Amino acid sequence: MTSQFTVSGLTKTYGSNVVVDQLDLTIEEGEFLVLLGPSGCGKTTTLRCLAGLETPQGGAIAFKDRPVFDSDARLNVPAHKRNIGMVFQSYALWPHMTVRNNIRYPLKVRKMKEAVAEGAVEAAADMVDCGQLLDRYPSQLSGGQQQRVAVARGLVARPDLVLFDEPLSNLDARLRDQVRTQIHQLHQKLGFTAVFVTHDQSEAFALGDRLAIMKAGKIEQYDAPEQVFENPVSDYVAAFIGMSNKLSLRRGHGGWETSAGDPIDLTHAVIRDSADQHTTAVARLRPDDVLLHARADEVPLGNVVLHAELVTYEYGGRYFDVTVETGGEQLILRVPAARHSAALRGSRPSAPLVVSFSPASLRVFPIPGDEPAAPEPVAVSAGGHA
Ligand SMILES: Nc1ncnc2c1ncn2[C@@H]1O[C@H](COP(=O)(O)OP(=O)(O)OP(=O)(O)O)[C@@H](O)[C@H]1O
Ligand SMILES: [Mg+2]
Repeated sequence: MTSQFTVSGLTKTYGSNVVVDQLDLTIEEGEFLVLLGPSGCGKTTTLRCLAGLETPQGGAIAFKDRPVFDSDARLNVPAHKRNIGMVFQSYALWPHMTVRNNIRYPLKVRKMKEAVAEGAVEAAADMVDCGQLLDRYPSQLSGGQQQRVAVARGLVARPDLVLFDEPLSNLDARLRDQVRTQIHQLHQKLGFTAVFVTHDQSEAFALGDRLAIMKAGKIEQYDAPEQVFENPVSDYVAAFIGMSNKLSLRRGHGGWETSAGDPIDLTHAVIRDSADQHTTAVARLRPDDVLLHARADEVPLGNVVLHAELVTYEYGGRYFDVTVETGGEQLILRVPAARHSAALRGSRPSAPLVVSFSPASLRVFPIPGDEPAAPEPVAVSAGGHA
């Protein structure tokens, strides 16, 4: 008896285009898994394979003890027999059905007459604050209301697995936060197993028990949110989860330095894949880990100091997002408005700035294709033998 949902070696191709590439995933029962990745990396296709809406070319999928797809065994359980709930980006409500009938639809398909009788439709509508809307048609609802009805429809039959495909991306910022919180609360209350697709890192961090970061049909990292946040396994993951600053590093005679020639001590940096054994590397850094200083003597002890020029700044309420240039590379800093407002408002582009960061906030990765540095040649005494 296993309580896991497993995907192994899943492969889906369209012609010569490999969209899902030998993908493995394990989802614990009750877990909220977020599949995070850029457009076109295969998130929707993976979800559709789980749902039974696409037929993969290879691999196997099992929902707990029940295989639902196995290419070797030629097994493919149709979508309506997989006991899943789905919530899409486009709300996909039936326009000719009332809210009540939309939410009831999965119960009808599954012939769950008892659930209807016991008021499951009303209960599901109440869960998402749509109890007052049951007799309306979708065209009479706002976008946020439609999506909440879609969530109720996805959950009403208490499916084994609920699949969400970017359900919040058509909502405006405020509604997105509201519906996100509602989904999170419902998951905590009902404990369903979920796979939630998004390309929004804040959504992923907010909702996920675990995050799977996808790249070109494969999972690049599969970890708890804190682990992904603190220890991204690659430059790709780091860039995707908000470490938007990239510094090119090279090894000079006196040690590592930035492309502007500022020295950088990597002793306390987090180094992946022996990046420090190479002659070049790339470091990633979060905007809020970079400090702005009025004077050089304000720099905390041990921080790396960069000599930079102001490019531009944008007011964000409690903070400014400041773009600076150093050694031909641009960095973005998120600095407290209260402390820096006056100085920034009085600065012109190209004004010199002192910025610094703790080396412990750096995540350092090798540059693909860059070979590790050859070991120093062993000194051989004149005329001696090796
Ligand atoms: N039916 C199809 N026929 C051919 N190619 C397809 C089909 N569906 C998807 N693709 C291709 O497969 C790749 C992955 O598509 P998919 O929809 O899974 O991406 P995604 O990660 O969900 O992206 P987005 O964030 O834009 O929704 C894309 O290159 C897409 O063009
Ligand atoms: Mg998609």
